[in-house]
Formats: sequence, C-alpha cells, structure tokens
Amino acid sequence: MVHKVTLIPGDGIGPEVSKATVRILEATGVKFEWETFAVGAEAFEKSGEYIPKELIESIERTRVGLKGPVTTPVGGGFPSINVALRKKFDLYANFRPIRNLPHIPTRYPDVDLIIVRENTEGLYSGLEHEVVPGVVESLKIITEKASTKIAKFAFAYAHKNQRKKIHAIHKANIMKLSDGLFLRCCRSVANDFPEITYGEHIVDNTCMQLVMNPYQYDMLVMENLYGDIISDLCAAFVGGLGFVPSANLGDECAIFEAVHGSAPDIAGKNLANPTALLRSALLMVRHLGEHEASTKIRNALERVYRHPEKLTKDVGGKAGTSEFADAVIEEMEKADVQPAAVQSSRA
Ligand code: NAI
Repeated sequence: MVHKVTLIPGDGIGPEVSKATVRILEATGVKFEWETFAVGAEAFEKSGEYIPKELIESIERTRVGLKGPVTTPVGGGFPSINVALRKKFDLYANFRPIRNLPHIPTRYPDVDLIIVRENTEGLYSGLEHEVVPGVVESLKIITEKASTKIAKFAFAYAHKNQRKKIHAIHKANIMKLSDGLFLRCCRSVANDFPEITYGEHIVDNTCMQLVMNPYQYDMLVMENLYGDIISDLCAAFVGGLGFVPSANLGDECAIFEAVHGSAPDIAGKNLANPTALLRSALLMVRHLGEHEASTKIRNALERVYRHPEKLTKDVGGKAGTSEFADAVIEEMEKADVQPAAVQSSRA
C-alpha cells in the first residue's frame, strides 16, 4: 500500500528537518507518495497566496499532512499559517506528548505527560482591532461546543490509554466568563469518566508546579494560548524544543508537526535536531496503521541516543541534521540484518 501524504517542509529549519525525517520514513520500507507544497512568504512569492489552493485540495484528498515549521511575522504582516490551517480543517485537538528519550540528561528523567490543547479558538481567533488610536481590543473566543469537544477528546484518550488523571488549566479567577465556561464544560465531561481523577489548576500556579514537580501531573487540558506556552515550558523537561512532537487532529484530517518554530538563529546550517519532527512523524505513521515501521524507527532512535557523538549540537553532540538522519537509518539497517532472536532480546 502507498500512503499519500501532503508534505509542507516549511521555512527556516523546516526544509532540513523535513528532509531528514522523510529520508528516515522512506528507509523503513513503507511506501509514501508525497504531495509537497510551500506555504507562507515562499508560497506568496510564487503564487500570490500564502496558503495555495492546491495545498488545501491536497489535504482534502490525502487527509494526512506532515508539516515543518513556518515563520509568522511578529507585530504585523500576514496572519499565522499554522493557526489558519488548524482552523480551515477544524483540527481542534492539539496532542503533545512530553516524554524523555533515554540517555538525554535532564533534571527529570521520567517525564510522561500529555498536553491536550484546544486548537481553534481562544485568543488565537485572530480577532483584533484598534478601537481608537492607542487602544486595541483582542477577542478571546471560548465556546461551549469547542470546549466540550476538547474535553471529550482528552477524557476519551485517557480512558483508552489507561491514563489516571486530568487537570484542566485555566485563569477563571480573572476571566470568569470565558475560562469559567471552559471549566464548566470540562467538569461536565469529567462526570462521565468517574475512573479518571479530575483536577483544576490556575495557569500561573501550574507553571510553578510543573517546574517544581512535573510528576504530579498526568494529562493537562487547556485552551489555545496556555497550551502553546505550557508545551514549550514542558519541552525543557525532555531536552528542549528539538524533542517534542505534536499532532493536530480533527474528525476528517490530521496534520503532524513539531512543537518548535522555524528557529531562524540556526536555519540553513545543518544544526537543527530533527527528532521532534521525526517523533511527530511517528505519531503519523501510527495514525496510518504502520505500527511495525513506528517501532522500527523508535528503536533505532533510542539506539542512536546512546552515542553522544552521533547527536546534534543542542544536546551536546557534533553531528549535523543530515548525519543524525544517517545514524538513525544505519541503526534501522543493522536491526534488519540481525536475527530476530537478537532483536527481540534487545526490545
Ligand atoms: P523556535 O522554536 O523557532 O526557536 C526557539 C529556540 O529553540 C531557538 O534558540 C532555536 O534555535 C531552538 N530550536 C527550535 N527548534 C530546534 C530544533 N529542532 N533543534 C535545535 N534547536 C531548536 O521559536 P521562536 O524563535 O520563538 O520562533 C521562530 C519562528 O517560528 C516565529 O516566526 C514563530 O512564529 C514560528 N513558529 C512556528 C511554529 C510552527 O510552525 N508550528 C511554532 C512556533 C513558532
């Protein structure tokens, strides 16, 4: 079977980490057919559109996207392509597992935390205007429909995957109506899942609690902005932004991308760590039902991380993005030629 996937390499470090990831995916033997598109400033130069029509049609057809990061201009310019794609395809659930890889020294070695972020509204609705000169209004939209949907997603995932605890993260002490509604929806869904412990923490306290002791949490569910900020905080538990994957999931389509941005400070230098996009691709490969390939990549990745010299600079290594990909592919090839008994004794 050939899996058709819409590939958006992105900009900044996007093309480098995408190329590395695609090479590793293809080395598993699974067949992919990539429909590749530029977005953002690069697409605008070519076609006059920030999100080309052909890209939208491609995702409607393939229903699966793999996406590198895309730069969003700060304080002006075109609106975020990432936010626009999530809204366009109603990718309402942003699923971000935060897990350590072995052999990466961190302050907390056993983090296994899942962040579920509402992906389509909140302050990222993009509704801003200048009321009078010097006064700007930015609207935070919270709806019962989207809040209930994201709460149901989180609890259903917890139920299916034997997770024990969910905390809803909020600021309902100040934003009584908007975050208050979000909490009411979470409480209502929580009532249907008595086997899962439900708690609520205020977002500023959550940041402090996480830094003090991330092990106290199991799953966190929250609106858009808090999810964006808290995921970057949590990336620090597992080695930094080079490690955290994400899946943008809707009822019809899914787009897989890393949590990190386009990292202009290291772009084009073969320095970026492709692990976060590769781990996002692992989520994609499982979504496509290719469990064997996913295990193969995960095992190879873990074996590479035993060798500090094969790692990228962000984790103290000397390898470039492409050499890191070579090392993962080499480990997969070694596993292929080893007898099954040897492989299973290592699993
Ligand atoms: P960033 O995530 O691009 O970079 C923050 C820091 O982490 C930088 O020092 C960077 O070098 C490092 N870093 C990030 N990814 C890395 C990797 N794979 N390997 C090694 N080091 C890595 O965040 P920043 O600088 O705030 O944003 C840059 C641009 O990216 C902005 O235009 C922003 O809008 C965009 N962005 C796009 C996202 C997306 O497409 N999903 C998500 C977040 C930001």
